[in-house]
Amino acid sequence: AKRITGGVDHDELMKHYTKEDCWVHLFGTVYDVTKYLDFHPGGIPELLRAGGRDATPLFNQYHAWVNYESFLKACVVGPFIGDLSKLP
Ligand code: HEM
Repeated sequence: AKRITGGVDHDELMKHYTKEDCWVHLFGTVYDVTKYLDFHPGGIPELLRAGGRDATPLFNQYHAWVNYESFLKACVVGPFIGDLSKLP
């Protein structure tokens, strides 16, 4: 993914919620999971539910043990610098 070193804020994250352009926030980092969608064992629609949003609660609910950092190494956009409480 194209990195944004200055970080990603709430407004920017929210713009990316489609199958063609899907970003998620997970534990302080924003990932562009567009290319990972096809590989998600839980399916595309499930992962899309977290598109443009904070994926952390759903991630923890379904599989808190999954080594996401390893899976999503190539998907890092940058740190999340917005206000988590404002995310949908
Ligand atoms: C399964 C990765 C987000 C729902 C899995 C598995 C992996 C994975 C590796 C297989 C786990 C196993 O077999 O033990 C990821 C990554 C995510 C992510 C890297 C990063 C954002 C989500 C989200 C949801 C979700 C946001 C729900 C909205 C599921 C479900 C399964 C699953 C329901 C179970 C599929 C099954 O066993 O039939 N995911 N996931 N995942 N994931 Fe995710």
